[in-house]
Amino acid sequence: MREHLVAYFESHRKLVESSALQLILTSPQPLDLSRALIDSAGTESPFVTHAMVVEMMAQRAPASSRAPAPAPVAPPPYALVSEGYSTPAAGRGPLEAYGELFASRFATLSRMLRGRPELANVRPIHDLARAEGRAAVIGMVRDVRQTPEKHHILLTLEDASGSIELLAPRGTEAARTPFLPDEVVGVVVQVGRERDRLSRVLSAHRPDVTTPRTPRRTATPERVAFLSDLHIGSKSFLAEEWASFVEFLHGRGPDPALAAEIRQVVIAGDLVDGIGIYPNQERDLAIGDVLEQYAELARRLRELPARMEIVVVPGNHDAVCPAEPQPGLPPEIRSSLPENVHSISNPSTFALGGVVVTAYHGRSFDDLIPAIPGASYARPTEVMKRMLTMRHLAPMYGGRTPLAPLARDGLVIDPSPDILVTGHAHTYGIDQYRGVLLLNASTWQAETDYQKMRNISPVPAHCAVVDLSDLTVTTVDCTEGRVVLRTGA
Ligand SMILES: [Fe+2]
Ligand SMILES: [Fe+2]
Repeated sequence: MREHLVAYFESHRKLVESSALQLILTSPQPLDLSRALIDSAGTESPFVTHAMVVEMMAQRAPASSRAPAPAPVAPPPYALVSEGYSTPAAGRGPLEAYGELFASRFATLSRMLRGRPELANVRPIHDLARAEGRAAVIGMVRDVRQTPEKHHILLTLEDASGSIELLAPRGTEAARTPFLPDEVVGVVVQVGRERDRLSRVLSAHRPDVTTPRTPRRTATPERVAFLSDLHIGSKSFLAEEWASFVEFLHGRGPDPALAAEIRQVVIAGDLVDGIGIYPNQERDLAIGDVLEQYAELARRLRELPARMEIVVVPGNHDAVCPAEPQPGLPPEIRSSLPENVHSISNPSTFALGGVVVTAYHGRSFDDLIPAIPGASYARPTEVMKRMLTMRHLAPMYGGRTPLAPLARDGLVIDPSPDILVTGHAHTYGIDQYRGVLLLNASTWQAETDYQKMRNISPVPAHCAVVDLSDLTVTTVDCTEGRVVLRTGA
């Protein structure tokens, strides 16, 4: 029922808050109620909020049952649009489960591509043999190779009907953006005339982000601080830099007025350093017990002003299953953290003051950077642009990012966010892509020997403070033992 309702709201271009959905599910007629909510919501707001459901339930209740009112449920400080993680379906073998995952990815991404004027008359791949002239297909990239001498691209695309090998000649527009394994693309092809000639790709189209008709912004300045990769428990945790950041947040640094406008803090994973994450990690640890690391995280987060609400997603160093999407922190860890800390899955999409944020730790950089020519950890936002064109955070299966076999592909980027934040690269980046603000939110860990070995030079102790009224960014640079503010990219 839950999935069904989410799909129903999505088909009407509405994003339903998780607490609102919860409430709808408790009603005697969830579908009727959802229909009434969509009818009454109009086209002004893309959100269905907790308050809207409470009001609609009160309107629909028979007069005799209107009192007493249901006990109020405290809504969270954000509107949760979707958590990437969903509970695995029981009784599925791994093959069947991965089959469902990829079918879900294909269904969502091909729906985004269908109906584009460039892809008129899309046909199933197995029909292509019977086509003449130009034709269009949508498929998942199963294989990409280069021809040995001329470096043309040989692309194998697959849909439910079958698979086909296509040729994208070197130097053509279609061959310019590298095809990545397991992404979903639409292509216009010139069908090969002779039996043994490959059809040639004339143009390639990706789902890409869509910009909302009216920008989602707050009416007055309201700021969010984006952080990542605290790595609490590591010997390299930057305690002094963290202390100056804490002072800044309390208004004891430059621009106390700006600090006072920060209402939320978002942390994009690797909250603690964990144990056994990489070879010989114990040499780098100041705290060798993972629960103790979270206890120290709790102390560090209590240093921030208590009025701030803190939203955290886990990363690959955290104590949750590493397969993505990752669930939020387990209850025993969650309960050890302060009450203003809200743990949700990696990735998650949520709205802060109506501005839609997708937070993803960024493990897939480890697969995408080697696969994209010219990509590097120093410029993670370039890779994030590619994620947005694919509308997928971690498409590649079988690399360094383990993918969880869930029935719904929670790594698809849907809806298009206003802000995409990642971490994991331990660098700092601000950029824009088609109206989406891209942030790679630095780290609070100095360079470790392991990173030296992997040629990663971190840009630590930076925080991106975003004004939700206009999405401008102020960088809080806490390196060199003092706080320096910079505006813009
Ligand atoms: Fe990290
Ligand atoms: Fe990480």
